[in-house]
Amino acid sequence: MSFLSPEIRSKDEPAADIAQGARLIPRITIQAFCENSQTAQLVESAIHDRRMSKVALTTHNGGIEGAVETYKANPTPNLIIVETGHAPAEMPAALERLAEVCDASTRVVVLGHVNDVVLYRALIRSGISEYIVLPATSSQIVTAITELFAAENAAPIGRTVGFISAKGGAGGSTVGHNVCWAIATVLRQDSVILDMDLPFGTAGLNFNQDPPHGLADAVMANQKVDPTMLDRLMSKAANHINLLTAPVTLDRTFDFEEREFEAIVEMCQNTMPVVVLDIPHAWTAWVRHTLATIDEVVIVAEPDLANLRNAKNLSDTIKALRPTENAPSLVLNKIGMPRRPEIHAAEFAQSVECQLLGQIPFDAALFGTAANNGQMIAEVAANNKINDIYRAIGMHVTGRSATHHGGKSSKAMKLPSFLKKRA
Ligand SMILES: Nc1ncnc2c1ncn2[C@@H]1O[C@H](COP(=O)(O)OP(=O)(O)O)[C@@H](O)[C@H]1O
Ligand SMILES: [Mg+2]
Repeated sequence: MSFLSPEIRSKDEPAADIAQGARLIPRITIQAFCENSQTAQLVESAIHDRRMSKVALTTHNGGIEGAVETYKANPTPNLIIVETGHAPAEMPAALERLAEVCDASTRVVVLGHVNDVVLYRALIRSGISEYIVLPATSSQIVTAITELFAAENAAPIGRTVGFISAKGGAGGSTVGHNVCWAIATVLRQDSVILDMDLPFGTAGLNFNQDPPHGLADAVMANQKVDPTMLDRLMSKAANHINLLTAPVTLDRTFDFEEREFEAIVEMCQNTMPVVVLDIPHAWTAWVRHTLATIDEVVIVAEPDLANLRNAKNLSDTIKALRPTENAPSLVLNKIGMPRRPEIHAAEFAQSVECQLLGQIPFDAALFGTAANNGQMIAEVAANNKINDIYRAIGMHVTGRSATHHGGKSSKAMKLPSFLKKRA
């Protein structure tokens, strides 16, 4: 059984191409820093390769030094390609400076002019993903990138972050959507929001979108869904933000098996750097399984007693479900609602035993306007301090330290240990 209309599959891509789709490089961001214009042209021509159709690639001048300068102030992309004319003896120190300004998840491919197997092995051992000797073909470069990001055994590129409310209406969806906006804006990486609240979800409303397809089609298509189809079911909500919306229909009921969303979430994680799950306030087998398996869980609560009790139950249960994974964290929402007695934030977080990532003030006018317009808070009020809170939450859940505006990780890329000795 399928909600999926046949034209989705057959629109323009023959079946053979869909099968090959698995080898498409996911929607990563690549920035190249070249020293010679020929190399820049070579890298730019790689974008015409079919495997690169989803990739965002920009080329810049300046080699390793140019990259270091850029990333002192800017977040790093999924992949950095650097050309270096350095002699082998000087390469380690230069790459070490680059490592210091790189996020932990960023990969580095080096284009060099020295054909030396000892150097190659040393670079790979030090954490460089690939070393390509120039002159090379653009196909060689694309193949290296494909091996890194689209190989059978390649680690998923995406981080899965789920938002769940401690009580209905506490604001899990609002926080999730706005945090995704903040991540997409600051990191400029592609993201997808999965609206898992199939009968009542608000992702479509909040982004002013009413696409014909969404998450339900993906789940119903079950085994048949592949990355190409998933791509077609997504709708673009804003720059770097894609949606898998909820159908929001009561014509049927939505009862799922424990693992029914698993394949879709994994597929999203293989194609998108950031995957935000808007999880309904419910306790079903699949909600529990989702909470147990994603990278980060954020519990959103209002500062009252029922929220406190539920947040504590959720937190305890999630910790028990995934003892070796990241503990859930907490966001308090609708703080300072007029005339409402509140539990103090520190006391709330202490009882729930969760790290408090942020406290978002209650602002009926602002949130009401945003909701009615189908806009994010940053669109309605770009300078409002609430945006800083969303940004800080976003940096935390994507593993970046919030203090660095550029979003640097606390643990920078592993230093080239072998190279250190040679340096
Ligand atoms: N900080 C806030 N101040 C005022 N209203 C808010 C705030 N956060 C969310 N809201 C509003 O609360 C309502 C419920 O939010 P929603 O995110 O849909 O909650 P949930 O996902 O928990 O059901 C929405 O109308 C939203 O606009
Ligand atoms: Mg919701």
